[in-house]
Amino acid sequence: MDTDRLKATWAEVAAHGDDVPSYFYAHLFITHPELRDLFPLVMSAQRDRLVGALGRIVSSVDDLGSVVPFVQQLGRDHRRFSVVAEHYDAVGASLLWTLAHFLGDRWTADVAADWAAAYGVVASTMVDAAEESEGVQPAWWDAEVIDKTRVSREVATFTLRPNEPVPYVAGQSMAMCIPQVPRSWRFFTPANAPRADGTIDLNVASVAGGVVSGSFVSKVRPGDTVRIGAPVGTGLVLQPDDDADLLLVAGNTGLAPFLALLDDIVEQRRRGWPLRQVHLLHGVRFPWNLYAEHRLSALAREGWFRYTPVVSDDPTYPGRRGLVGDVAAERTFDGRYHAMVCGSPAMVHHTRDALMSTPKPPETVQVEEYAAMPATEAMSEHASAQGDPL
Ligand SMILES: Cc1cc2nc3c(=O)[nH]c(=O)nc-3n(C[C@H](O)[C@H](O)[C@H](O)COP(=O)(O)OP(=O)(O)OC[C@H]3O[C@@H](n4cnc5c(N)ncnc54)[C@H](O)[C@@H]3O)c2cc1C
Ligand code: HEM
Repeated sequence: MDTDRLKATWAEVAAHGDDVPSYFYAHLFITHPELRDLFPLVMSAQRDRLVGALGRIVSSVDDLGSVVPFVQQLGRDHRRFSVVAEHYDAVGASLLWTLAHFLGDRWTADVAADWAAAYGVVASTMVDAAEESEGVQPAWWDAEVIDKTRVSREVATFTLRPNEPVPYVAGQSMAMCIPQVPRSWRFFTPANAPRADGTIDLNVASVAGGVVSGSFVSKVRPGDTVRIGAPVGTGLVLQPDDDADLLLVAGNTGLAPFLALLDDIVEQRRRGWPLRQVHLLHGVRFPWNLYAEHRLSALAREGWFRYTPVVSDDPTYPGRRGLVGDVAAERTFDGRYHAMVCGSPAMVHHTRDALMSTPKPPETVQVEEYAAMPATEAMSEHASAQGDPL
């Protein structure tokens, strides 16, 4: 298999932009109309999650060894879309048809054979992993909304009670789907460490123009059932056996994973180790979105924890004003410390740059970006961010 040629031909096809998913889905739904019901109601080429990832993953088959766990996870995760083994032939055929269309004369017998072989390797890895996970883990968990607080126009907090406990660790996220927008899955992050009763707190922010988040904040109510996919991500998980201090920097609902980590940190301190200092900065545009202020201010009465709310867009706010990354860069520790950053991509990039330009940068910066990006990018970024000394 000529993997350089796979990558080169994919680059050539991907250069056609939104026309590629449009063509792929037209072919898939004409040849297999029964598959339309697996996909979101609102579909547009700009929001495509499958086709770009499909091309990138299949054309990287030479590197499969390093991404096998990810491809297996993807296969297990596809159970939540109700995908079964038989569907893979239809998607493979539409992929090849799309490649042939955009490559024209360059779609030779050799190129076609390489793409078919590469798709076969990835598809069988996904199918095997999905089949092995049947009976071990549900395709998704159903969770009843048992509490909701509308914090502001933009933010709401929820408590969900899954039908059985979801096996996540603090700092991980799960894809979720609300009944108001069926089949459109987005990632959300539990704001608590796993509890004995399995309940999960969520902090959800409405994103302008977004398909899911606005309905989540305004329409989801107690009594509704939310579907939850398998937990993913290692980007914000606490590093075991490390007692360095922690600088946690959150933008808006990027606070959620840090609330979950704080549950674990409080429990670890109760057991006596590690006795680290923790400083949490929460950046919001307006003060009414400081939804955990009471709880975090109370915790800050304990000497080991500091809490700094930062408001960017209200000139009357009497506390710290400005961008949370700039304020965090003024508050670094003197000794060894790690930083964790969570929020929108812009907030994460700005904060990471600000921290790395300080005279005393953190030993590591672990990040999670709240973007509607395909899991492939999210996953590879998790992998490279985790524990990557900067
Ligand atoms: C691992 C992970 C965990 C997450 N956890 C949470 C959470 O706990 N709470 C929470 O509120 N959100 C969380 N998110 C973000 C969430 O998954 C959605 O991206 C967000 O709710 C927007 O979805 P949407 O359907 O409304 O927007 P879409 O229709 O998907 O996107 C609309 C537009 O908004 C842009 N966009 C998407 N998300 C953001 C964002 N966060 N900031 C700025 N622009 C954006 C998109 O690029 C697009 O242009 C998480 C994301 C990831 C990847
Ligand atoms: C090699 C095979 C495949 C690869 C590499 C692949 C990859 C992906 C990726 C990376 C995503 C985004 C995941 C996310 O948003 O969480 C995705 C979404 C999806 N895939 Fe696949 N996939 C494959 C096969 C299939 C098949 C056979 C089907 C069945 C029709 C399918 C149906 C879907 C659906 C319904 C979505 C959600 C789309 C959306 O939210 O817009 N996939 N796929």
